[in-house]
Amino acid sequence: MKLVFLGPPGAGKGTLATLAKENLSLVHISTGDIFRANIRNQTPLGVQVKAILDSGSLVPDDITIAIVKDRLQQPDALGGYLLDGFPRTIVQAQALSGFEQLDAVVNFVLKDSEVVRRLSGRRVCKSCGTGFHLTSLPPKKEGVCDKCGGTLMQRPDDEASAIQERLRVYHAQTAPLVEWYQSRGLLKEIDASPAPETVMKVLKELMGR
Ligand code: AP5
Ligand code: MG
Repeated sequence: MKLVFLGPPGAGKGTLATLAKENLSLVHISTGDIFRANIRNQTPLGVQVKAILDSGSLVPDDITIAIVKDRLQQPDALGGYLLDGFPRTIVQAQALSGFEQLDAVVNFVLKDSEVVRRLSGRRVCKSCGTGFHLTSLPPKKEGVCDKCGGTLMQRPDDEASAIQERLRVYHAQTAPLVEWYQSRGLLKEIDASPAPETVMKVLKELMGR
């Protein structure tokens, strides 16, 4: 199965992808995670995109499309994948349709006020990347990752001004993809406001599992 997770920042795409990759046996490919790994490792790409990610703007389409095209050709992705955070513009969606045939696009629906609440309370592990939330999904010990014992941090783009920029970019450039995929018969909508386990249950039903 070839799936895309669409939706505003903070809608829970990453959280659900972590649950779905086990439940649906799919490879999880997140463009945001790829960029952040490059920033962490200070690769040339990481150096190039760091300021863009920190501010909440989008990495240029040509760079992003080339990375995804390459990633989807790797052997583990050939059996099916879950694409999280790509495409984010009409240009990216057009490019993807030129080299892949999707089974479905799941649109996570969440209002802006809840996006802000979720992103401002998000904490991620510096070592393994596992995500937490100060009130919805708190770690057992404050500031410490349940999974690996690493230190929890706030993403630079979860600062208030970057959250506003990400929402602006989402509405201007990514939201038009909802109609784009709807008109191609691929769109499935999901209410992203309930707890992750509930959203996962609905997702499995949507996928006929
Ligand atoms: P990316 O990493 O994709 O960020 P995003 O889309 O802004 O989404 P997030 O990862 O912030 O949110 P999420 O939906 O995964 O939510 P999460 O599960 O963490 O992209 C980052 C940047 O990279 C972009 O700004 C851009 O610069 C660049 N980039 C990436 N892709 C690109 C592309 N295609 N083109 C150009 N540039 C690109 O959950 C959020 C919080 O809510 C967590 O704390 C979680 O615990 C909590 N939570 C989750 N679900 C629930 C729930 N059901 N109930 C309560 N709390 C919940
Ligand atoms: Mg994410």
